[in-house]
Amino acid sequence: MALSDRRRHLPPIIIGKARFATKYVVILTGLLLSLAGGGQAADLPSPPASPPKTTATLTLNDCVKCHPAIVAAYKKDGVAHRDKLTCQVCHVGHPPRDTDVIPLCSRCHQGAPHFKLHNCLRCHTNPHTPLKITLTHDITHACTTCHNGQLEQLQANRSIHSTLACTACHIKHGYRPPCFNCHKPHLEGMANKTCQLCHRPHMPLVVSFPPSTPSEYCAPCHAKEYALLAKSHAKHRNVRCAQCHATKHKTIPVCQKCHPAPHSESMLGPKPNCGKCHGIAHDLRLDKIDILLDKRRAGP
Ligand code: HEC
Ligand code: HEC
Ligand code: HEC
Ligand code: HEC
Ligand code: HEC
Ligand code: HEC
Ligand code: HEC
Ligand code: HEC
Ligand code: HEC
Ligand code: HEC
Ligand code: HEC
Ligand code: HEC
Repeated sequence: MALSDRRRHLPPIIIGKARFATKYVVILTGLLLSLAGGGQAADLPSPPASPPKTTATLTLNDCVKCHPAIVAAYKKDGVAHRDKLTCQVCHVGHPPRDTDVIPLCSRCHQGAPHFKLHNCLRCHTNPHTPLKITLTHDITHACTTCHNGQLEQLQANRSIHSTLACTACHIKHGYRPPCFNCHKPHLEGMANKTCQLCHRPHMPLVVSFPPSTPSEYCAPCHAKEYALLAKSHAKHRNVRCAQCHATKHKTIPVCQKCHPAPHSESMLGPKPNCGKCHGIAHDLRLDKIDILLDKRRAGP
């Protein structure tokens, strides 16, 4: 006869002696007997041939007497497990009389991809506080059972971020890590929220920015262009870098984007080269224009 089979046919207290330390047996014995309105432990009969049915039943109010910490945690953070279940919906019976009183999560949670993960308790560390989640591992795959998009972005746009686990940055569930946890800003005084003006965390090398981006943000890496434009007297000095170079980083604009038809076709010819007369955008040659203007005014 298998051990578990034999247990079922033995009266509870005796099983208790076989399974538990004396301390627990005494507690449990006292409880079961008092619930049953039974007599003294000393009066216990020796095992009868056929097992007696104990009338002792544990009620929900009893659990707290011996499991105060679990009940307290459950009351505080049990969330849906507290609101929709009771202890005894999950724990049917109680040792030593009953075995297998620990439920599998899959008894109630099935169907979604998330419920196919292994070892639920590695993240939901305590079933009595199911939303207190511990993320201590290098986790990526499990996140994608609920969040689409981030992994795809990381993979389609390779950067060093693509080599990190989700939990390297998201050390707690729902935590949005500041870039400053791991990086210094390009410019002293730049706020953390400014980083996302140009970078997206899951594709950080795909840089783009709105036309309103201050030119000072480009200066740390393009000091030469910044200085040249700043000392120019042409009206372009009032135009932001990001207005011309919008919106993807490294875009070079054509002049006609903002000056659609500056001159007559006869003046420009079929392949207009604006730079021939105006120089470069960062430092327009106003003097030459002045000379040309003067010449034109003077007549041929
Ligand atoms: C008289 C004290 C007492 C009461 C009342 C009591 N328990 Fe227990 N419980 C114990 C002891 C002692 C153990 C440890 C047994 C062991 O280690 O296997 C235990 C173990 C358990 C276990 C773990 C079983 C396992 O297989 O690991 C569960 C679940 C449990 N109790 C649930 C409950 C619930 C639910 C209630 C209320 C309905 C309750 N208990 C009431 C004393 C009690
Ligand atoms: C959603 C199902 C569920 C509910 C509701 C639930 N439990 Fe549990 N309980 C579990 C699971 C699963 C384990 C096993 C946890 C593990 O293996 O770490 C467990 C373990 C236990 C244990 C043994 C482990 C230990 O930490 O000592 C006790 C005692 C226990 N529960 C008591 C209770 C009590 C009391 C209540 C009500 C206040 C309760 N449980 C409500 C699922 C539940
Ligand atoms: C006896 C059934 C039962 C068992 C066993 C069970 N759960 Fe649940 N669980 C529920 C129910 C019911 C809900 C509420 C679902 C809903 O509202 O849609 C729930 C909700 C949850 C939630 C969300 C809580 C919230 O408030 O949003 C988590 C997380 C969870 N369960 C994890 C687990 C884990 C992990 C296990 C195994 C250790 C487990 N459950 C075992 C029935 C169960
Ligand atoms: C890698 C960590 C991890 C593992 C493993 C894991 N979960 Fe979760 N689970 C989470 C996170 C994170 C949430 C989101 C919690 C939130 O919404 O705050 C969650 C949410 C839930 C929810 C509530 C939301 C929903 O979709 O219903 C349930 C129920 C749940 N998990 C059950 C399980 C079960 C059952 C298992 C095992 C089959 C499991 N989890 C394994 C991390 C994990
Ligand atoms: C069972 C589903 C589930 C799993 C698994 C899960 N999450 Fe979530 N996550 C959610 C839900 C639901 C929210 C809340 C959504 C909201 O507030 O818009 C959330 C929120 C977040 C947020 C905050 C989003 C915001 O807008 O503030 C981050 C970051 C996050 N999860 C990252 C992760 C990471 C990293 C993992 C893997 C360790 C993970 N999640 C696993 C369901 C899940
Ligand atoms: C948990 C740490 C962590 C966080 C948070 C983090 N990063 Fe990174 N990031 C790294 C590491 C590690 C590297 C590779 C080494 C380096 O360049 O410092 C990196 C590299 C980069 C790179 C260069 C990528 C490459 O492949 O060359 C950019 C751009 C970047 N991060 C931007 C950001 C931005 C913007 C944020 C906030 C939205 C951010 N990072 C948040 C860890 C982090
Ligand atoms: C290098 C660090 C880093 C890595 C790796 C990372 N994230 Fe994020 N994640 C962030 C930052 C930073 C934010 C944005 C925070 C903010 O907006 O303040 C973010 C935002 C999120 C959000 C909120 C919604 C959104 O898209 O903005 C979710 C959900 C999320 N991450 C999930 C994931 C998942 C899933 C993975 C793994 C596949 C992952 N993250 C990998 C840094 C990272
Ligand atoms: C005005 C746009 C802009 C802003 C704002 C910005 N970055 Fe960048 N960042 C860039 C560009 C452009 C690169 C270079 C990308 C390349 O090499 O293709 C870069 C590169 C990086 C790199 C890679 C290493 C390096 O220095 O070249 C890191 C890390 C980084 N940025 C972090 C940050 C952080 C953190 C913030 C917020 C404090 C931030 N960035 C704000 C545009 C910006
Ligand atoms: C973190 C440093 C960094 C920041 C900040 C940055 N850039 Fe760049 N930028 C670079 C690097 C690196 C290159 C590539 C240089 C090369 O290929 O020689 C580049 C290239 C460019 C180019 C193309 C150059 C060419 O020769 O084709 C333009 C245009 C440009 N950046 C504009 C900007 C603008 C506008 C800003 C501000 C909104 C900005 N950058 C911010 C680092 C940066
Ligand atoms: C993003 C839009 C934009 C682009 C691209 C652009 N410009 Fe301009 N440009 C302006 C603005 C705005 C002014 C000032 C207009 C005013 O104040 O009347 C200006 C003024 C000028 C002026 C008059 C300068 C002065 O100081 O009086 C010339 C000449 C000029 N642009 C030539 C060019 C040339 C050549 C290019 C290409 C290399 C170019 N622009 C590209 C926006 C642009
Ligand atoms: C009025 C439009 C305009 C403004 C404002 C402007 N650029 Fe440019 N930039 C151009 C054009 C057009 C080119 C291509 C070269 C040319 O024709 O002048 C260029 C070229 C560049 C290049 C490529 C290298 C080079 O010098 O040719 C970089 C880098 C650059 N710009 C950065 C910047 C930065 C940083 C700022 C702000 C300080 C800025 N630009 C402001 C229009 C502009
Ligand atoms: C042959 C020399 C020449 C070429 C090539 C040329 N320009 Fe001009 N541009 C001038 C002269 C001279 C003026 C001054 C007055 C006028 O004729 O409108 C001028 C004026 C301008 C002005 C207006 C300045 C103001 O304050 O009103 C803009 C804008 C301009 N040019 C843009 C362009 C653009 C864009 C191109 C290329 C498509 C271009 N130019 C090609 C000679 C030239």
